[in-house]
Amino acid sequence: MLKLTYLSHSSFLLDDGANIVLIDPFLTGNPTAKMKAGDIDAGFVVITHAHGDHLGDGLDIAKRNDALVIAVNELANYAASQGAIAHNMHIGGGWDFPFGRLKFTIAHHGSANNDGQYMGEPAGVVITMGGKTVYHCGDTGLFMDMQLIGELDRIDIMLVPIGDNFTMGIDDAVKAVEFVNPGVAIPIHYNTFPVIEADPEEFAGKVAAIGKIAKVMGIGEMMEF
Ligand code: NI
Ligand code: MN
Repeated sequence: MLKLTYLSHSSFLLDDGANIVLIDPFLTGNPTAKMKAGDIDAGFVVITHAHGDHLGDGLDIAKRNDALVIAVNELANYAASQGAIAHNMHIGGGWDFPFGRLKFTIAHHGSANNDGQYMGEPAGVVITMGGKTVYHCGDTGLFMDMQLIGELDRIDIMLVPIGDNFTMGIDDAVKAVEFVNPGVAIPIHYNTFPVIEADPEEFAGKVAAIGKIAKVMGIGEMMEF
C-alpha cells in the first residue's frame, strides 16, 4: 500500500504506513500551496535539483524532523553544509533505504541554488515503496532514455511535468508517458506561475487517446495505490 499526497507543483508525500518520504517541498512562496512547511513531518526528504521551486523548504523540514536528505552528491554536500543529515548519491545509482529502493535518473535541466552555486546534475528519481514503483521525472525535457527507465522498472505511477517553458509541455509529456508506459500518469509542474499555465485535463485527454491512464490530482488530494 502506498499513499500519495500532492502538495502542489512538483511536491508529494509518499506514505507506506511505516515511513514518510517527502519529494521537492516548495511551499513557502508558492501561491498554490495549501500546507505550510512547519506542518509537514517526514523521515526522508528527496530533492531532485536545487532550483528554489524544488529545494524549497526541504532543508528546513529535514532539520526540524532530523530527516535524511537524499540527493545527488553536490546537492547532498550542500544540504550537509547547512546542517542537515544527507545521503549522497548520483545518477544511475540506487540504494536500499528503510522505506525501499531509490534510484536517480537523468533529467535534462539545470541545478544551481538561489545563490547561483552549482549543485550537481538535476535528476529524476525512481522510488519503490509500499509495493509500488513511482517515477518522479523532476524537471526535464523529453528524452529517449525514458523508454529504458520504463523497461528496467515496471512504473506504477509516473509524475510528469507538463507546464512547458522550463520543462516538457503537454505534447512532449504525452510522448514521455508513451515511452515509460506507467500504470497511471499524474501531471505536475503546471499552473503554479503564469509562465507554466497548462490544462491538466488536456493532458489527461491526450494520454487517454494513446490508450493510457492519467489522473489529475487536486492540491492536497491523497490517492492510495
Ligand atoms: Ni528546475
Ligand atoms: Mn521547477
